Amino acid sequence: MKRTFKAISTYSIAAITGMVVLASCVTDPDSPGLEYMPDMYRSPAVEPYVDYGRVQGAEDMEKKMVQSAMTPPAGAIPYYGTEAAHVEVMLPYHRLAPATGDVTHGLYGWEKEDSLGSEYNAAVADKNPLTLASKEEADAMFKAGKHLYETKCMHCHGEKGDGNGPMVTSGAYAGVPDYKTKTDLADGQVFYSIYYGKGAMGAHASLLNNEQIWTLVHYVNKFRFDDYMKNLPAAGEAPVAAPAAVDSTVVVEDVHAEEAHH
Ligand code: HEC
Repeated sequence: MKRTFKAISTYSIAAITGMVVLASCVTDPDSPGLEYMPDMYRSPAVEPYVDYGRVQGAEDMEKKMVQSAMTPPAGAIPYYGTEAAHVEVMLPYHRLAPATGDVTHGLYGWEKEDSLGSEYNAAVADKNPLTLASKEEADAMFKAGKHLYETKCMHCHGEKGDGNGPMVTSGAYAGVPDYKTKTDLADGQVFYSIYYGKGAMGAHASLLNNEQIWTLVHYVNKFRFDDYMKNLPAAGEAPVAAPAAVDSTVVVEDVHAEEAHH
């Protein structure tokens, strides 16, 4: 029994030493040596936008010639869960781009309105679908809005919304209005201008989704109207009349009216 064990251990030590010696004897100095688990050293590159057509060392030339991430069909809408109200907010914006939008704001390929300004004027009817039903809801909304504003708008519009952002005070840029002078605008027009751009302001459609823009509409209203945040009920209290320019209904009729247009 003792002898068998001794023999086994002697052979194993010899075998392991032999393997180590063999594995380390590689003449090519650039060789990585013996790879026991190549999958772990070289995991197959599966990247959505780059198809190398090479999986585990095998190259597939046919696959290499194919665009890997296909462009979705026109009119396809991203999936945003199952909550009907949220899906509604995220549906493609139903207002057509300004008639001169390709020249003025690089909106090539967008479906344009028939006469300049007609969609901007019609946007007066569009209500903000995001509600401020309680103080807590409003606080969360303005917190999210503040972050979006600071990253996408403040450099032009300024911390106080007075049009004196660093882009303006540095002299690089001019013509940014003080939000206080914009009290006559409807929420829907504020959305339209952020989405498609206006004058020297670029289009933000590719930078922000609908929910983010409506959040910013609330945030900008805080600059436009001094009492925008007043009179909000605490959580659990019955909602009082919504503050000026806010309505909790979604304009569904217009979406369908536009469908006939397409
Ligand atoms: C590059 C600078 C710049 C940036 C960035 C910018 N704006 Fe503007 N914004 C302007 C200028 C300039 C105008 C005046 C446009 C006009 O009336 O000719 C304007 C106008 C507006 C108006 C008034 C629109 C109207 O219909 O009269 C609103 C509201 C507004 N901006 C909100 C925003 C928000 C929100 C953001 C961030 C998502 C933003 N802007 C980002 C420069 C900018």
